[in-house]
Amino acid sequence: MSLADRLAAARLAQYPPDAAGTGGVRDSAGRDVTGRDVTGRSSGPLAEVRRQVHHDLLEAVGPELYDARLSQADLEQRVRQSLQGVLAPGSVPPLTAADRARLEEEIADDILGYGPIEPYLRDAEVTEIMVNGPGRIFVERGGLLYPVDGRFADEQHLRRTIDKIVGRVGRRVDEASPMVDARLPDGSRVNAIIPPLAVDGSLLTIRKFSAVPLTTDDLVTFGTLTRQVADFLAACVRGRLNILVSGGTGAGKTTTLNVLSSYIPANERVVTVEDAAELQLYQEHVLRLESRPPNIEGRGEVRIRDLVRNALRMRPDRIVVGEIRDAAALDMLQAMNTGHDGSICTVHANSPRDVLSRVETMVMMSGMDLPITAIREQISSALDLVVHQARFQDGSRRITHVTEVAGMEGQVISTQDLFVFDHRGGFDAHGRALGSLCSTGLRPTFSPQLAALGIALDPSLFGFGRYGD
Ligand SMILES: Nc1ncnc2c1ncn2[C@@H]1O[C@H](COP(=O)(O)OP(=O)(O)OP(=O)(O)O)[C@@H](O)[C@H]1O
Ligand SMILES: [Mg+2]
Repeated sequence: MSLADRLAAARLAQYPPDAAGTGGVRDSAGRDVTGRDVTGRSSGPLAEVRRQVHHDLLEAVGPELYDARLSQADLEQRVRQSLQGVLAPGSVPPLTAADRARLEEEIADDILGYGPIEPYLRDAEVTEIMVNGPGRIFVERGGLLYPVDGRFADEQHLRRTIDKIVGRVGRRVDEASPMVDARLPDGSRVNAIIPPLAVDGSLLTIRKFSAVPLTTDDLVTFGTLTRQVADFLAACVRGRLNILVSGGTGAGKTTTLNVLSSYIPANERVVTVEDAAELQLYQEHVLRLESRPPNIEGRGEVRIRDLVRNALRMRPDRIVVGEIRDAAALDMLQAMNTGHDGSICTVHANSPRDVLSRVETMVMMSGMDLPITAIREQISSALDLVVHQARFQDGSRRITHVTEVAGMEGQVISTQDLFVFDHRGGFDAHGRALGSLCSTGLRPTFSPQLAALGIALDPSLFGFGRYGD
C-alpha cells in the first residue's frame, strides 16, 4: 500500500462515510470528501516531501523557466531531468514507485502547468474552477459545486500560478492592479483578485468553455428548451427580431446567445462585441471585437459602448453583444431602432420583467436627460423578445420564459409570455426538476411581421403542452 493510500485509509477510519450517502460534503466526483482524493494529490507527510522537492527543483531550474528561447518541449525535458536529480535516492525519504510517480506528475504540473488546478483544466466535465485562497479549491460539475482536496503549497505558489496564467496573455496582477480579467488560449475566462482586496488570500475563478460549443441538440438533451421552442427561436432569429437573453450569473446566457447566433443566415455580416471574446460562431462573415480595460495610468479604455458605435460604421447586418451592462444599452436600443434589427444581446436580470427595468436604469446611466416615457417607448419599439434563463437547484440550466415585448399600454411596457417553464412536474428522487417549457397558448403579435418575410410559424407550436392544461 502506498503512503497516500495509507493516509486515505486513516482518513476514512477517522471519518466513516455517511451510510445513507446523503448530506456531508461531497468531492468533485460526488463522493464523500472522506473518500480518496480523486486527483490523488499528495497530502500529509507526502505533501511535505512535495514542498521540499518543489523548492529544490525551482532552485535547480530557476531562471530557465523564464527563458523565452526554450520551447515548451525543451523546458519540459529540462524540468523532468532536474526532477530525477532532486528525487535521487538519499535526497528524499524512501518512496514507493506509486508515490514517486505521483509526486513527479504533481510537480511537473506545478512547474510546467497550473499546479493543483491542472487536472481540472484537463477534465472536460469540470465547467468552473474556483480557488478560494491557497488551501481551498472548488469545482463545478453538472451545474453543482464540489470541494476538491487539491491545494496550493502556500500563497506564493498560488500567486506564481496566477502570474503564469495572466502573464501568458500579456496581463499582470500586482499591488497597483490587484484585479485582472484574462482569457486562456483555449477560450476559458479567468478572473483573479489578490490581497489586500481579497482578505483571506488570492482568489482565482476560471470559467471553462468546451472547445466545441454547445449546440441546439445539446440544449434540447439537457432540457434547457424543447425542440419546438428551439424551432420557434430559430424562426425569430431568421425573422430579424431583436432578442435579449436574460438571467442570473452563470445561468447559461452566453451559451444560449451562441446557439441563437448560429441561426443567423450564413450570408449575413455579423459583428460581435464582447468584454472577453467567448462567442464561437461558425458563419464565415463574422467580425469579432473585444473591449479593453484601462492601462495602469488609467488610459486607453475601450468600452462596449464605443465598440457598439464603431460596429454601426462597419456595415453590419447584425450586431451581437455579449453583455449589456451600462450606458451601452442606449446605443444598442438606438441601433435596434435605426435599421440594425436582428440584434441579439444578454443582460443580467432575475426575471423577464426585471430585464426591462434594468435596461431602463442602464439607459438613465448614459447621462442623457430623457423622460421615462421616452425611454420606455424606445425599449418597447426596439425589443421584440426576451429569453429568460435560470440555473435550477439541481444544477441544470433552463429557459424559464420566452416573453414577447408587445408595445406600450399607457405608461407601461406590455409583455406577454409565450412559453413558460411549468414547475408542476415536480422533482424526481435525485432532486432533478421534471417540468418543461410549455406554450401559454398565446400567439405572438409579430407573426404577421415574420410571415411578411416568408417565415411561417407552425400554429401547433402554440397549442401543444399548453401551460395550465
Ligand atoms: N443549457 C446549459 N446546460 C448545461 N450547462 C450549460 C448550459 N448553458 C451553459 N452551460 C454551462 O454553464 C456555464 C456558464 O455558462 P455561460 O457562460 O453561458 O453563462 P452566463 O450566464 O453567460 O454567465 P455569466 O453571467 O458569468 O456571463 C458554462 O460552463 C457552460 O458550459
Ligand atoms: Mg456570459
